[in-house]
Amino acid sequence: MRVAVIHGPNLRLLGRREPHVYGTVTLEELNDRVTELARELGVGVEFHQSNHEGELLDVVEEAASRVEGFVVNAGAFTHTSVALRDALVGVGRPFVEVHLSNTAARERFRRHSFLSPVAQGVVYGFGEESYLLGFRGLVVHLRRTS
Ligand code: DQA
Repeated sequence: MRVAVIHGPNLRLLGRREPHVYGTVTLEELNDRVTELARELGVGVEFHQSNHEGELLDVVEEAASRVEGFVVNAGAFTHTSVALRDALVGVGRPFVEVHLSNTAARERFRRHSFLSPVAQGVVYGFGEESYLLGFRGLVVHLRRTS
């Protein structure tokens, strides 16, 4: 079993970007923690980050032939991208939406997600732990349904 973790725009700034909101862990450190969990669970993992919407669509399309599911933090595209929603639905692989911050407790424009209604599950508000919880949840779901 293999899972792709997708980081959207500005997430490569983790560790430096608004640390009071997103914490001090860098993207590399976060990926290392997910890799460790994946190893523990016996699951393959790959990581992608892009600031470009179209590139994220390409990644979803290309990775879908190699992976059983996705963990997705689409950053600001969560609140704007019908195209990313359509790509994730289109490839027919389950995905878990994750966010570091509690988006429901922030600005009004972050409360709407185009992804949540089509996600297998959503985890937000636990910092990097959101990715680990989401990853675990996705693997449980994939094992149950395979
Ligand atoms: C985020 C929340 C989004 O609203 C924001 O645009 C991000 C990060 C999070 O992980 O908390 O870039 O997805």
